[in-house]
Amino acid sequence: MKSELLKKIEDKSFVVGVIGLGYVGLPLLLTYVEKGFKAIGFDIDPKKPEYLAKGETYIKHIPSDRIAKAMATGKMTATNDFSRLKECDGVLIAVPTPLNANREPDMTYIVSSAEAIVPHMRKGQIFVLESSTYPGTTDEVMVPILERSGLKLERDFYAAFSPEREDPNNPDFHTANIPKVVGATSPDGLAVADKLYAQIIVKTVPVSSTRVAESAKLLENIFRSVNIALVNELKVAFMKMGIDVWEVIEAAKTKPFGFMPFYPGPGLGGHCIPIDPFYLTWKAREYGATTKFIELAGEINTSMPDFVVTRCMEALNEAGKPLKGSKVLLLGLAYKANIDDLRESPTFHLFEKLEDRGAIVHYNDPYIPVIPPTREHKRFMGRTSHEITNDFDLHVVATGHDVYKTYDFKNITAPIVDTRNIVKKSGGLVVKA
Ligand SMILES: NC(=O)c1ccc[n+]([C@@H]2O[C@H](COP(=O)([O-])OP(=O)(O)OC[C@H]3O[C@@H](n4cnc5c(N)ncnc54)[C@H](O)[C@@H]3O)[C@@H](O)[C@H]2O)c1
Repeated sequence: MKSELLKKIEDKSFVVGVIGLGYVGLPLLLTYVEKGFKAIGFDIDPKKPEYLAKGETYIKHIPSDRIAKAMATGKMTATNDFSRLKECDGVLIAVPTPLNANREPDMTYIVSSAEAIVPHMRKGQIFVLESSTYPGTTDEVMVPILERSGLKLERDFYAAFSPEREDPNNPDFHTANIPKVVGATSPDGLAVADKLYAQIIVKTVPVSSTRVAESAKLLENIFRSVNIALVNELKVAFMKMGIDVWEVIEAAKTKPFGFMPFYPGPGLGGHCIPIDPFYLTWKAREYGATTKFIELAGEINTSMPDFVVTRCMEALNEAGKPLKGSKVLLLGLAYKANIDDLRESPTFHLFEKLEDRGAIVHYNDPYIPVIPPTREHKRFMGRTSHEITNDFDLHVVATGHDVYKTYDFKNITAPIVDTRNIVKKSGGLVVKA
């Protein structure tokens, strides 16, 4: 099985399947096609294959012409028909891994995609999980479901885990030039998975097991979460001392070794940093291990929207106004600058907290003209981006979009609460938060 798969990869007759055509899966699919492989994308959302068939994008930073070009090669297909998994020699799975209502890992997407594979498995395939998850998911969750097909791991199919490191809209790093960690359940599986990724990626990093690969991804995200919590804590402390934390960071980062800058903000956002650390916390409990750093970082980071709301009240107070009944404009709904991704965005928490205290809240975001349906923030669905005008009592900069960095706030006379340190001059009071 190993030599046959390696040979197919070498002569590019290897057919790649990608399950889950979102922020991670779609670039993977495109990159394989661009490298000359036949690739089939699978998604349960019927709209995604329709868009792709028309050569159109549904993710802002992936341009339509890249999709149209890939479709024109005749090597790319996207479908809801999972029976076509039979055609694939390798299947990469990039489905969501959120937390459930109790903030525990929600495995339903991984489980349902593995279950969708089972009826269409054949001998001689490799299945690689890409979703961020706790150590043990590949061999404890995915493999037992796949073996319900009657096929046996290592004898009939291989399993591997390779975490995704996409940084959406980063001009310097994309699928092809970010080194990729790869772990498998056997040396043969590793040889195949490693070779498969080596076709599209500048450098693969083979590790001894799927668990090491799963853990490496969690370490990367926990590292960010803990360091962001640290600067958020320092922000609050320094503010009380009359010291600007952003200026402190700029000074500290001139140290050419042993320091890496992290920046404070209104809270964590995105699909990874607010969620992944708790995958480890949950799993560690099974082994009687505590993860105090992770819990503490989570506590500090989730308290940030409350801190910002307090700063809003202080800013309005300076203008002699109560929060209740004040008109507030939130600048930026996306969780990070210059993208349209609003998953886990802390702006939603500001929106809720300010509205719940009686403020009349609107948002502005050039990347999100209308708020689409989301799993958690249904009450905001359908609201539309409001232009930046002077008839608000308060403006809150929540996302560091470039358009705000270059915006002339001199005409804005109401107070501005700036959580991103980007407002240099305004017509009124600027309060950092
Ligand atoms: N977005 C990022 O920058 C990023 C970075 C690193 C890791 N990750 C991880 O990658 C995984 C995927 O994230 P994403 O951002 O691409 O998510 P996404 O929500 O953008 O895309 C997931 C896709 O999977 C589809 N899907 C859900 N269940 C399915 C099923 N059973 N069968 C087929 N398709 C199904 C959805 O319709 C959606 O199109 C997550 O585990 C995430 O934590 C994401």
